[in-house]
Amino acid sequence: MKIAVMGFGTVGSGVVEVLTKNNDVIVKSSLGQAMDLGYILDIRDFPGSPYEKYFTKNFNDIISDPEVKIVVETMGGVTFAYDYVKQALLSGRSVVTSNKQLVAEKGYELLQIADKKNVNFMFEASVGGGIPIIAPLTECLTANRIEEVAGILNGTTNYILTQMIDNGVDFSQALKEAQDLGYAEKDPTSDIEGYDACRKICILASLCYGKHIYPEDVSTEGIKDVTLNDVAYAKKCGCQIKLIGSSKPVEGGHITASVAPAFIKDSSILADVHDVFNAIMVRGDALGDVVFYGRGAGKMPTASAVVADVIDCAKHLLRKRAFGWGAPEKGFVVSDDYLTSRMYFRAETNDYSLSEKEIKDKFPEAEILSDGSLNEIAFMTDAGNIGELKNKAESVENMNIKMTMRLMNLA
Ligand code: HSE
Repeated sequence: MKIAVMGFGTVGSGVVEVLTKNNDVIVKSSLGQAMDLGYILDIRDFPGSPYEKYFTKNFNDIISDPEVKIVVETMGGVTFAYDYVKQALLSGRSVVTSNKQLVAEKGYELLQIADKKNVNFMFEASVGGGIPIIAPLTECLTANRIEEVAGILNGTTNYILTQMIDNGVDFSQALKEAQDLGYAEKDPTSDIEGYDACRKICILASLCYGKHIYPEDVSTEGIKDVTLNDVAYAKKCGCQIKLIGSSKPVEGGHITASVAPAFIKDSSILADVHDVFNAIMVRGDALGDVVFYGRGAGKMPTASAVVADVIDCAKHLLRKRAFGWGAPEKGFVVSDDYLTSRMYFRAETNDYSLSEKEIKDKFPEAEILSDGSLNEIAFMTDAGNIGELKNKAESVENMNIKMTMRLMNLA
């Protein structure tokens, strides 16, 4: 059978390389079926490429060739990618994508089409790059109620925070380094504002809790307001700051889902996840905590996950895998304010002693982390209802809150 690859960027070119270089392994894993590259769709020219004969600019070449059974989408975005993926599924082809935006925004609709057409729509590479997480959630962990899924889902922001924590580099300098090293995009908005991690937690939460979760349902905060002082205050608490995407069930059949910088204990496995690495913790009621760790981005790691899905599709051409989630439901995702946590606050103050006194009155058990040498005050509360702790902190006079973070209890 032929495989078509749409989009010859970083991931797509890696997919082509793995498909050709490891063809013997892939054929063996696909139960002896021929697995040949058929087409590479891209609007750009690649003169001198060893794959020159496969290039086309015309999607119809793919859709009109009956030998093409599996289509890989590594274009990114939702405009053309959505249109082509939909057409490929409607034409009875299985589709594999690494495109988290497509899955987070259109996953339910595309899974429904795949169901109707008895084909597969798979997206292991859309979360955690090369780290296996979608397959474990849909196979090995299915006997568990998932009590929480949480992780470091974005490599660029983890690189920046690592530089801030380990080397005392401030946010803008660390971002520039990440760009120079090619980790962050020229326009790094989706990484540093948390949108990339948001799409990934949408996919994980949809899988864990059975209803489509849209990015707009998820409270999303990035890392650009995290200061070196926050990093130092976290160290005083025996913690590190990480950008965490998380989701968990709460009372009334609802779930929470959010992306935000958070304190995690130095003793947590996730505190040992540095640079561009990702890690995802799944808390199952039967299994307990399990952590998936590895390279969350990059050409070959991501291609590894894409091609594994291609092999899975090849093995399930006649019998669709039971996979996916149900329709979205308004009000299913509720605010993190319903959760219980210790909370960190950093605030501006013009009268440090007055603010300190008021904080001690309102939060008798709180640990004051700042030393009064700046016009800011930072403190860590005892565990309580997040919404109530926030309201109480906001009621402290002479104080303007600049940063709020949860202390998360993760593996
Ligand atoms: N920009 C993403 C990251 C790439 O930094 O993790 C993988 O989604």
